[in-house]
Amino acid sequence: MNIIVLNGSPKGELSITMQYVRYLGKKFPQHEFRILHIARDIQQIEDDPQRFAAIIDQIAAADGILWGFPLYSLLVHAHYKRFIELIWERQATAAFQNKYALAIATSVHFYDHTALQYIRAVCDDLQMRFIDAFSADMQDLLNEEQRRRLLIFAENALQTIEQQGPTFPAPQPAESHPPPYQPGAEPAPLDTGDRQVLIITDAESPDDNQAKMVARLQASFGGRAEVVNLHELQIRTSCLGCIQCGYDNRCPLENLDDFIPFYRSKVMTADILIYAGTIRDRYLSARWKAFFDRTFFMGHTPTVRGKQIGIILAGPLSRNPHLREILEAYFEIMQANLVAIVSDESGSSATLDGLLDLLAQRLIAFSGQAYLKPQTFLGIAGSKLLRDEIWGRLRFPFVADHRFFKAHGGYDFPHRDWRTRLRNGLMLSLMKIPRIRETIYRQRMKEEMVKPLQKIVEET
Ligand SMILES: Cc1cc2nc3c(=O)[nH]c(=O)nc-3n(C[C@H](O)[C@H](O)[C@H](O)COP(=O)(O)O)c2cc1C
Repeated sequence: MNIIVLNGSPKGELSITMQYVRYLGKKFPQHEFRILHIARDIQQIEDDPQRFAAIIDQIAAADGILWGFPLYSLLVHAHYKRFIELIWERQATAAFQNKYALAIATSVHFYDHTALQYIRAVCDDLQMRFIDAFSADMQDLLNEEQRRRLLIFAENALQTIEQQGPTFPAPQPAESHPPPYQPGAEPAPLDTGDRQVLIITDAESPDDNQAKMVARLQASFGGRAEVVNLHELQIRTSCLGCIQCGYDNRCPLENLDDFIPFYRSKVMTADILIYAGTIRDRYLSARWKAFFDRTFFMGHTPTVRGKQIGIILAGPLSRNPHLREILEAYFEIMQANLVAIVSDESGSSATLDGLLDLLAQRLIAFSGQAYLKPQTFLGIAGSKLLRDEIWGRLRFPFVADHRFFKAHGGYDFPHRDWRTRLRNGLMLSLMKIPRIRETIYRQRMKEEMVKPLQKIVEET
């Protein structure tokens, strides 16, 4: 069979993910795995219609499509995202219809599930027959048991294609088409004090919902908010995955375009940040994705820590729960305060006016109080994963991250908690005595657990 592999790594042949594909090529020599370097070559693919058409022809002729991609900033790489946009823009969806699809992602499992949900949804939109996805750690290929799992996955997928077998459908949320937003009378301007407010948008026309929501919000800030449109910034490429920034946060692209100077001087210095986007396929635009990918020059450090964040979105957010999760997780891990996501799905124009005005008020009020809502599982689990990776196998090459984590209490492992260790040691010994164990578990547990909290309440 002829399997077309869409390589989502900007590193092309040197992609880790492609080693998994090459391994399968060796194990299943009866099938051809033809790799197309989508993320590496996106500029030529976009600029040269014949090259794009040749790729689509190969897809149309294939027995199956393998989406092979690394995780980049909780999703796929921006260039891969752009290719997916081109499929729709250039009306090439017919080549994908009814085609079998499978996915292999490599990562450190940091929000790999959101990337898989994204690709799955894209395949469903393209009416492909999605078989399954395999999410490998970047080093799994070194492990015999993991290789065994990969082979079972691939064997099952290839068999399904060969036998033209059925696939498990994943019901998608209903379609949603937010109505045009018609803002009402301008809101009364709020006092922003000396706070720096930055709105980052990728609106393409002043008449679209995103642009109108941005204008409303800007009016609320009394025109004191700076608005930067990502289309007006020169961003020549997304991150190339070279990780030269790992040592000292210096990126080889630093002086080649506007991104890093902009990020350092405007984004990292703002008090209030508003991210405004429009949903394209199942995420924001590839432009926005390049923005998030390029922030990687600062590694895994929380570059917008302590800031108040607002998000305004045009498009079917309710259809894309993974997008909400990505945004919530991202800002929790950044230790920023995501005040709210306001979407144009929220209701009538009057309702939306009210929500945008409320967002502006809350952003200013919380900024004054330096409020940070508690992290949920998204931020806590994600931060622990990164902490362990940077402490362990990723300390090299991410030397700058290690320095930052060390200096800012990032290595908050429980083994430093001497009080808890002492208590555990004492209690574990006591628990060996049946009478004490009985008394504590049966009679004292609930009471003892609540005691320190009751003390605070009583003293208040
Ligand atoms: C800029 C950048 C962003 C990344 N983002 C993520 C991420 O969000 N989650 C994750 O688990 N791994 C992330 N990774 C790790 C890569 O997904 C992983 O190293 C992958 O195996 C690289 O595959 P490739 O060589 O095929 O590009 C990121 C790596 C880079 C360079």
